[in-house]
Amino acid sequence: MNARRPLVIGNWKMNLDFVEALHLVQQLGVLLKNRPVEHTDVVVAAPFVDLRSVSSIIDSERFAIALGAQHVNSQENGPHTGEISTSMLKRLNVEWVLVGHSERRVHYFMSDEIVAETLRSVVRVGQHAVLCVGEELSIRESDQHEAFVAAQLKSALRGLDEKFHALVTVAYEPLWAIGTGVNATSAQVSEMTALLRTVLRSLSFTSPQVLYGGSVNAENAALLVRESDVDGFLVGGASLKAESFYAILQACDDCYAIKR
Ligand code: PGA
Repeated sequence: MNARRPLVIGNWKMNLDFVEALHLVQQLGVLLKNRPVEHTDVVVAAPFVDLRSVSSIIDSERFAIALGAQHVNSQENGPHTGEISTSMLKRLNVEWVLVGHSERRVHYFMSDEIVAETLRSVVRVGQHAVLCVGEELSIRESDQHEAFVAAQLKSALRGLDEKFHALVTVAYEPLWAIGTGVNATSAQVSEMTALLRTVLRSLSFTSPQVLYGGSVNAENAALLVRESDVDGFLVGGASLKAESFYAILQACDDCYAIKR
């Protein structure tokens, strides 16, 4: 990792009811108060129904944690039963929104067009969009991963006004690494983050921020952050326990302090 400030996002997925969520944030917040990670930005992406309580505790305890959502609808309001809009999230102090996570793309049919539309609606209201891209194993095995991921990225950014570039973070999350216990190697992460940065620069992004996600834990986070040019992590399973998530934050923070 170079001297860019790391960002680590916990993606809780469909886990933790609001009581469990409060408990986890409280534990994490206390760990962060006792030993702050001064150089690392921390976000938790909670289920919609947890946002209000998590937002309140972050606010009242002044925890150094920003709030994220895992998905949002691209429309502002209207007949979209079961959906949530960016303005609703904004009212709950949500500053970050995951856009196009592979679980949304694969299981809930989020097309490239909808991903692009959603990304535009998120940044338009001033929220940070974390655009997720990544290939399936079969694509990597046929050596198409670079072309596939580059195309996914370009398609998601189509029609985006340059003034919103600073609000976009990209997360490289190969599907074969998500929830499998098999993380991408430092070499694979370096190859893909370099590619994503090149594409982003070609689209006039001046300081692209690229994360890695897929079976990140405290041990591999320390290695990946040391050996690859990644700006931080999107963490699923290991974000569900305060200690394991905090260990990842610490690994990033320690590495930043050395490399800066
Ligand atoms: P994982 O999930 O860390 O459990 O592999 C990552 C993600 O899906 O964002």
